[in-house]
Amino acid sequence: MFANPLTAVVVGAGHRAVVYSSYAHWHPDELRIVGVADPDDFRRSQFAESHDIPPERRYRTAEELAAAGPFADFAINGTMDPQHVPTSLPLLDAGYHLLLEKPFATSEGELWQLVDAARRNERTVGICHVLRFAPFYAAVRARVAEGAIGQVLNVQTVEHVSYHHMAVAFVRGKWNRVDRCGSTMLMSKCCHDLDLIVWMKSGVRPTAVASFGDLTYFCPERAPENAGTRCLVDCPIEAECLYSARKHYIDHPNRWAFYVWQPLEHIPNPTIEDKIASLQGDNPYGRCVWKCDNDVVDHQSLTVTFADGATATHDMVGGAAKPSRSIHLLGTEGEIQGNFEDSRFVIRHIDPRPGHETAEEVVDLKIGGDMHGAAGGHGGGDLRLVGDFLRVVRGEEPSLSTTTLDDSIYGHLLGFCADRSREEGRIVEIRTAE
Ligand SMILES: NC(=O)c1ccc[n+]([C@@H]2O[C@H](COP(=O)([O-])OP(=O)(O)OC[C@H]3O[C@@H](n4cnc5c(N)ncnc54)[C@H](O)[C@@H]3O)[C@@H](O)[C@H]2O)c1
Repeated sequence: MFANPLTAVVVGAGHRAVVYSSYAHWHPDELRIVGVADPDDFRRSQFAESHDIPPERRYRTAEELAAAGPFADFAINGTMDPQHVPTSLPLLDAGYHLLLEKPFATSEGELWQLVDAARRNERTVGICHVLRFAPFYAAVRARVAEGAIGQVLNVQTVEHVSYHHMAVAFVRGKWNRVDRCGSTMLMSKCCHDLDLIVWMKSGVRPTAVASFGDLTYFCPERAPENAGTRCLVDCPIEAECLYSARKHYIDHPNRWAFYVWQPLEHIPNPTIEDKIASLQGDNPYGRCVWKCDNDVVDHQSLTVTFADGATATHDMVGGAAKPSRSIHLLGTEGEIQGNFEDSRFVIRHIDPRPGHETAEEVVDLKIGGDMHGAAGGHGGGDLRLVGDFLRVVRGEEPSLSTTTLDDSIYGHLLGFCADRSREEGRIVEIRTAE
């Protein structure tokens, strides 16, 4: 029990900030949300009511909230990618520590602007790399840190983005165009994986990267013959199509509901009829996946080299039948291989005895689910991350998973440089400019 809960303000009361703020409902003795800023009237008042925030502590923008002077211990910034830096700068100048969503910047220039402001104001900025707090990755990292496989020579990470996740987020959805969401697919989807790679290398500097990738499937040239433009309006092949909006969002009405049914969020309990009408109307999730305005890649690979000579690869492929994140680390004294969704990994060592070849230790976490029902997504990482940040703000020792801004710089630089490599068709050196 804590005598005085820490207090936080929320900037951008959207899907992610609501999840992080739910920590205050689960642990009122540790956290209280005392202010909110969001230009959306409905979201601002709904969020304020759920945390009993008085009218005088409800603001339209981060700038207005910052101008009121600091009245909480820290701010949770859950705005969309292009707003992360512009909204964080006034909060840092006002004196708030920050828990900030990833990717924390949309360019190298923005990255250094934020780092400078955090250092100048001597504020702590925690980045929401939630996978570091998932028991699977935390356990893998702990074994690497204790030297179970010696020096890490190579890290291989693979992310298969499921067909329904790909369609909802990167084809029909909010992260489907760089000029709209500010981020490439690598930065919006895989900045977690790039962070994991650098984390597993214990912060050794990445020095150069080469990357390839393209948009080859979710584009008009690949549309099936006779495909319409909106699944429930003008598509004669809807019944056979694997990407039918009816199959994805009506047959599974709760799947990705916070994205798909955002146009209906002002209606308390929308019916199936409301949802069908929305998909038939101007809801972007009713569009044909081959006839959207998406321009982000649907697959990308990269190879990176580190200051100690180690290498790493990451492969992202969108449209897989099953979501999967896997990791394989090879070190001087062994290897670790596992799959996030299985919550299970294997540590292997050479066993030269006659009749043997490899000694295996299986680590089966069987946690898979989450800490607090649906609110604790990412294998339980979401709310563990908040708990960890509270400990840091209280001045306690950081954990192995703690992600400060300084810890995030290499992973983000790696992503920006990989995208430059992909666009310019050349190897890009990673310079830290520090
Ligand atoms: N950590 C993760 O694993 C993870 C997962 C999904 C999304 N994200 C990231 O989380 C962020 C938020 O995503 P979301 O889906 O919750 O977004 P969202 O659109 O639901 O919420 C963003 C909110 O910010 C508000 N806003 C806009 N301008 C503002 C301003 N100037 N001041 C205050 N509020 C402002 C909007 O009105 C909106 O309510 C994104 O950057 C996304 O990439 C992270």
